[in-house]
Amino acid sequence: MKHVLSGKLPETGVSIFTEMSLLAARHKAINLGQGSPDFNVNEDLIDLVAKAMKDGHNQYANRNGLLALREEIALKVALLYKSEINPLTEIVITPGATYGIYTALTTVLKPGDEVIVFEPAYDSYVPNILVNGAIPVLIQLEYPDYKIDWNVVKQKITPATKVIMLNSPNNPTGRVLDETDFQQLREIVEGTEILILSDEVYEHIVFEGIQHESILKFPDLFERSFSVFSFGKVFHCTGWKIGYCIAPDWLMKEFLKVHQYNCFCANTPMQFAFAAFLRHKNEYLNLGNFFQAKGDYFKSIMEATQFKPLPSCGSYFQLYSYSDISDDPELVFAKKLTEQAKVAVIPVSAFYQNEKNNQVLRFCFAKKESTLEEAVKRLIDFQNI
Ligand SMILES: Cc1ncc(COP(=O)(O)O)c(C=O)c1O
Repeated sequence: MKHVLSGKLPETGVSIFTEMSLLAARHKAINLGQGSPDFNVNEDLIDLVAKAMKDGHNQYANRNGLLALREEIALKVALLYKSEINPLTEIVITPGATYGIYTALTTVLKPGDEVIVFEPAYDSYVPNILVNGAIPVLIQLEYPDYKIDWNVVKQKITPATKVIMLNSPNNPTGRVLDETDFQQLREIVEGTEILILSDEVYEHIVFEGIQHESILKFPDLFERSFSVFSFGKVFHCTGWKIGYCIAPDWLMKEFLKVHQYNCFCANTPMQFAFAAFLRHKNEYLNLGNFFQAKGDYFKSIMEATQFKPLPSCGSYFQLYSYSDISDDPELVFAKKLTEQAKVAVIPVSAFYQNEKNNQVLRFCFAKKESTLEEAVKRLIDFQNI
C-alpha cells in the first residue's frame, strides 16, 4: 500500500516553537524562544499536588472540573472583575488554555464560517480554525504599535463572521486592550450573532499600574464570549497543562458536548492543589510586579546591545528590533543567533500567515537573572565578532 494521506492541515509543518527549541538544543543555546519559565514552581503548590495524590485523588475528576476549584475561580473573577460567574454552569477546567481555544472553536464553527484573527497571532489560532473547515480572516496590526484599527474590523465583517478572537495581554507584542477597544468592539457586535473568543492567559502580567480589561468585566460582551485562562502561565507550571474556560450557560452547554467526548476532564490532583492554592491571592496579584521587575532588568542589561525594545505593557515577552544590526529576514537572523550567538529567540514573522517581516524578534524574559545575564553576554559577544 502506498501511504499518502492528505490530512486536514496539509500546509502545516512543525510549529516555530518546536523548530527553534530543537535548534536551541542542537546548538546548546539559551532558549529565550519558548514561553516558559526556567525557575521552579512554588514548593507549597508542589506539596499540595503530592498531598492530593497521596490522599487518593487519582481518578477521573468531574467533567466540568472539581467544584471547589470552580468556586475559587468564581471568587477570583468576582474580586478582579466584579462579575458574577456561576461555578456550576459557566466554568470548565481544561487541560490548558490551548485546549480551551480549540474546544471553543470546534464547538461553534461550521465549514465556511469566518473568524477574525489579529496578527501577529498565537500560533494555534489559524490551524484550529482551518481544521474546522472555517476561514480565518486575517487583520495585520501595524508595526510598531500593533493597535487594532476598529474601522478595518468593521470592513471585514460579513454575514459569515462567526467569531472575533482577542488576545490581551498579547503574545507576542505585549500590547494590552483598553476600555476604548472594548467600546468599539461592542459597537461592532451589537445586534449581530458574532461570538468572541478572548484569550487572557496573561491576565495578571500587566505593567505600569495598567488594569487588565477582561471580557468578563463587560456583561453584554460576556454574554457572547468564551474566555480562556491558564494556570501554567500564572503559577510557572506550563508543563502541567491546566487552565479553564469561562462562558455563559448557553455557550458552555455546547462546549461541554465537545469537551466530554474529547478529554472528558482535566487531571485530578492538580485541581485539588489549585483549589487550595488559589486562596493565596498574592500569588497572582503580585505577578505583574514580579514580571515587570524581570522585564525591566532584562531591558536594562540589553541596553549594552544594539537591539531596540518596542513598547510593551504586559505578558512575559519583549519584542526587539534588530534593524541596526542586520538586514537579514527574521527567521534567518533568529537561526543565526541560535547557531552563532547561542541564544534562541522567536521571529515575529512566524506569527503571521504571510511571514511578514519587520526585523523584530520575540524574547521571553521569564527566566532566572543568571540566564538573562548569560544570554545578553552572548549577544554582546556576537555583535563584537
Ligand atoms: C496567547 C497564548 N494563549 C494560549 C497559550 C497556551 O496556554 P496553555 O499552555 O495553558 O495551553 C499560550 C502559551 O504560550 C499563549 O501565549
